[in-house]
Amino acid sequence: MTSENEYVLGTHDAEVERLGLQHRAWRPKVCEAWRSAGIGTGQTVLDAGCGPGYASLDLAELVGEEGRVVAIDKSERFLDALDRKRRERGLHNITTCRADLDGGEFPDVIADCAWCRWIFAFVKNPRDILARVAAALKPGGVIVIHEYFDYATWRTVPPCPEVGEFVSAVMASWRDNGGEPDIALCLPGWLQELGFDVRAVHPIVETVQRDQLTWAWLRAFIEINRQRLAELGYLSHDRAESIWRSFTGLEAKAGTWMITPGVLEIIAARA
Ligand SMILES: C[S@@+](CC[C@H](N)C(=O)[O-])C[C@H]1O[C@@H](n2cnc3c(N)ncnc32)[C@H](O)[C@@H]1O
Repeated sequence: MTSENEYVLGTHDAEVERLGLQHRAWRPKVCEAWRSAGIGTGQTVLDAGCGPGYASLDLAELVGEEGRVVAIDKSERFLDALDRKRRERGLHNITTCRADLDGGEFPDVIADCAWCRWIFAFVKNPRDILARVAAALKPGGVIVIHEYFDYATWRTVPPCPEVGEFVSAVMASWRDNGGEPDIALCLPGWLQELGFDVRAVHPIVETVQRDQLTWAWLRAFIEINRQRLAELGYLSHDRAESIWRSFTGLEAKAGTWMITPGVLEIIAARA
């Protein structure tokens, strides 16, 4: 396998697009988290596991020309996508850095803040990586994390067993690849052990309907990953199609809700 294929969700074009939709759905909450953590003009911010860098681009605008964003990922395809976007937007304050965080690679940088979203769930050595991010922060530097604490809160109202089957397959695929979907449960304790003052541990779970962007985010995840899970052998192609038919059937009915997979927002400051 190439390093691009090793990553369980893949780095293909549809995933680049999906991550953009995901960021748009989450942007209001993310901006509020950054604001409450005090991220602002002139700061150096790490985006660890940045993917195609949708958050990195917003952070670059937030810190301004006096500030800097160091965007780290192991996927060259994702970093190339970020490079293209930052050129289109004329942003000169983003440094991309290719690094396998699980392999102990980390750029030599001292930052005011770190933003980590949906990276610890996908790595084999999350505690070591957290320690490296921590060591890259100035004293008083702040880390802002969004990770799942209970992925299986992703349910439908009324119940749809096929969506439950899909969620179970997703979780199994992440765990088999060395990750842990509910990694957020471990992070506040690890931060305390690393000498952080944990300022906020805040669950985010919503119920959404089909006209909302958050619904579109979850829909796109099922649409793309049912095929990915079939390719990886977690679902037969028949089951993958049956899951999609059941989901779209449910979606067509008025009076349907989805409950989002539970995210924990964690904000902590280095002593
Ligand atoms: C779900 S994506 C999240 C991307 C981005 N943080 C966001 O919120 O849009 C997970 C990211 O972790 C990266 N990743 C996974 N394992 C990694 C590793 N060992 N070292 C560096 N990046 C890794 C993937 O390439 C991918 O970009």
